[in-house]
Amino acid sequence: MDTWIGLMSGTSMDGIDAILVSFPDNHIQIHATHSISYPDDIRNRLVSLSQNKGSPDEIGELDHRVGGLFATAANQLLEKSSFSADQIQAIGSHGQTIRHQPDGGTPFTLQIGDAALITELTGITTVADFRRRDMAAGGQGAPLVPAFHRAYFSAEGEDRCILNLGGIANLTQLPADRSRAVTGFDTGPANALMDAWCKEQTGLPFDTDGTWASEGDIDQDLLSDLLSEAYFQRPAPKSTGTEKFNLEWIQTSLRRHPEVEAVDVQRTLLELTALTVAKQLPQQPGMTIYVCGGGARNPMLMKALQRTCSPATITSTSAIGLDPQWVEPTAFAWLASRTMNHKTGNLPDVTGARGKRIIGAIYYA
Ligand SMILES: Nc1ncnc2c1ncn2[C@@H]1O[C@H](COP(=O)(O)OP(=O)(O)O)[C@@H](O)[C@H]1O
Ligand SMILES: [Mg+2]
Repeated sequence: MDTWIGLMSGTSMDGIDAILVSFPDNHIQIHATHSISYPDDIRNRLVSLSQNKGSPDEIGELDHRVGGLFATAANQLLEKSSFSADQIQAIGSHGQTIRHQPDGGTPFTLQIGDAALITELTGITTVADFRRRDMAAGGQGAPLVPAFHRAYFSAEGEDRCILNLGGIANLTQLPADRSRAVTGFDTGPANALMDAWCKEQTGLPFDTDGTWASEGDIDQDLLSDLLSEAYFQRPAPKSTGTEKFNLEWIQTSLRRHPEVEAVDVQRTLLELTALTVAKQLPQQPGMTIYVCGGGARNPMLMKALQRTCSPATITSTSAIGLDPQWVEPTAFAWLASRTMNHKTGNLPDVTGARGKRIIGAIYYA
């Protein structure tokens, strides 16, 4: 049975999620999972790099360090399992996005985490750089997970959405009629703003369970101001990142609302995530939204989504057989399997690319 490793670190920059997985008869069989956190200094340097601060030396050094950490995550994952490196077909490594600028005359997207080094340190063929080919074909390079969502989560007769709440939120619509096109796009920020504000105000990397936000009130003026951001009004295809939705973006609005208390800002940012999802949701009667990513672990956010997205039902992807933490890493293991089997991985209806493409660059062991 073919077995793959998926390595994922998203825009939250919290650390690396690693999964060892097979896809027998179109099912997902998980053999092992493992997570490692980024050391504080690496995380801080990555955050600053993603906000336009950093030289080529800094990028090169972090490319090497992050590549080493991705390899460590894969090697520790294998140690936890009964598999050895030579039994793995390939690693799918998303890498760490430090810049995503899909629009304008010179579109580019940059994921670091040296895949050549991952191959050297693991002895396993590694597929990386999944986004660039789609972008070269005129696409957004994102989101790439909808093809995986379609393969494993679509159900004839049920309108489903998959909502990934990482640093950024992305939504996939899986029509009840499976012959209809799957669509998807980034709705905007999910945890990125809440994390940035929480870190700035409390020193903690995120607001565990939304406890701090639950002590605050929504500031309607600030909320309307934040909602006026042009990105939320733009039609798909679209994708975004933390070079836009970051601490500076919050502070720009706060200068117009200097009286708002810190705890109320946190509550308002949580509401912003829930509302931007709800406002961009294609409402179908009886639709269910299956949530994945770290945001699924935030009960305050899940409650807010339930309210703003009503009458749609909100639940987590656990209800369709995959724990929220492992959806994205599994998707990149699956995308690696597509690449290695010379199959396409992007959905042009989602990304806006000129056509389907075999995505990813292969570093052979
Ligand atoms: N218990 C929790 N309460 C609130 N937020 C959480 C909790 N657990 C995780 N998160 C949020 O999820 C984020 C990580 O989610 P993840 O899916 O890994 O995002 P990414 O794909 O961007 O790395 C954290 O930064 C945090 O904001
Ligand atoms: Mg993460």
